[in-house]
Amino acid sequence: MPYTDSVLPEPTEPERERAEAVAAVLHERMADAGGAIPFDQFMRIALYEPGLGYYVSGREVLGRGGDFVTAPELTPFFGYTVAGQVVDLLARAGGGDVLEAGAGSGALAIQLLAELERLGSLPERYRILEVSPDLRDRQRRTIERALPHLLERVEWLDDFPAEVWDGVVVANELLDSLPVHRVRLTETGVDELYVTPEDGGFQWQQGSVSDPIIADRLGLGASLPSGMETEVGLEAPAWAARAGETLRLGGVLFLDYGHPAAELYHPDRYHGTLMCHYRHRAHNDPFFLPGVQDITAHVDFSAVATAARAAGLEVAGFAGQAQFLVNLGLTYRVEEYLAAGGVSDEEQFQLATALKQLTLPHGMGETFKALLLTRGVEGPFPGFRQGDRAGVL
Ligand SMILES: C[S@@+](CC[C@H](N)C(=O)[O-])C[C@H]1O[C@@H](n2cnc3c(N)ncnc32)[C@H](O)[C@@H]1O
Repeated sequence: MPYTDSVLPEPTEPERERAEAVAAVLHERMADAGGAIPFDQFMRIALYEPGLGYYVSGREVLGRGGDFVTAPELTPFFGYTVAGQVVDLLARAGGGDVLEAGAGSGALAIQLLAELERLGSLPERYRILEVSPDLRDRQRRTIERALPHLLERVEWLDDFPAEVWDGVVVANELLDSLPVHRVRLTETGVDELYVTPEDGGFQWQQGSVSDPIIADRLGLGASLPSGMETEVGLEAPAWAARAGETLRLGGVLFLDYGHPAAELYHPDRYHGTLMCHYRHRAHNDPFFLPGVQDITAHVDFSAVATAARAAGLEVAGFAGQAQFLVNLGLTYRVEEYLAAGGVSDEEQFQLATALKQLTLPHGMGETFKALLLTRGVEGPFPGFRQGDRAGVL
């Protein structure tokens, strides 16, 4: 695997201390496990270990002051546009709640709430399922600052509702942050890459797969070249199925980077899709500063669709993010805003740059996808009016 040759910024002293504390936990778990752990366990500890992991440690991770920028952080027009699909689903379900999972800084929440209010389609409740206590606080502050009159509609959940409900689940860039196994193709099948300690840091150790499903997911017999390394996420499909478990009428909308299995597990991605972010530098060394950098992998949308179907959901739409946003009228929404006047040259320039990033194939336009799972509601759904590729999943 070609690790980064770019020079990464020097961590601050507290960041270095945090990484050492997380590394100590990782070393302890490896010792408990007899020397090595599968990469999904490494990723779970690095990102989510209570009080220490990347998403739960209180360090600013999202936005310009953090490590990476997501679509709703780029421009509010992302959320304003996605709201079109949310309104449509609420109407088809005859009303209900919006449940946003993994709400980050709260940026998408205020965009959706503002647009739903503008369109006269506010749900009774806007529920947020968020694992990070710090991000929950940040979300509350964001909503309180931007839309104080709507705060009383917002509530935070620890898990999906146990009772049956109607409405819409929305999750942007959540599935890609769920832990994945890392594997290497061999002449005869597939091995798993475990993580083991080395000189205070970590190294890979090749062994047999920890779960036979991992090999099944790669479709053995497919012609992947020996030596190829890639990732298999078992959590994302299970999580997607759970997201719709108690939903009676409505949809689950995922926006994330990923591909159908045939494109993800393709010789073109010989080194897999593991990606790390630290202060706006993208690189592929997951052992760098554990707990202080983000680790992600592209989503296998075929596996998500299969798990969703098995849970009784319908795969109602699948499209590139650019197509999805254009279908929902992104261009018109922006034109309408500009035509109202009073937009400075600088803001126009920033908006144009953000829109390019959202829609260009090498930005978020093609690598990012929108996937809609539904139960009990009929399409056609406006976000997938053109360019729907649900049939490939
Ligand atoms: C990459 S961030 C995306 C944040 C936001 N959706 C955005 O687009 O800016 C991932 C978010 O998912 C949350 N998260 C991760 N795993 C989760 C889980 N199992 N349940 C709920 N939230 C989760 C993280 O704490 C974080 O808020």
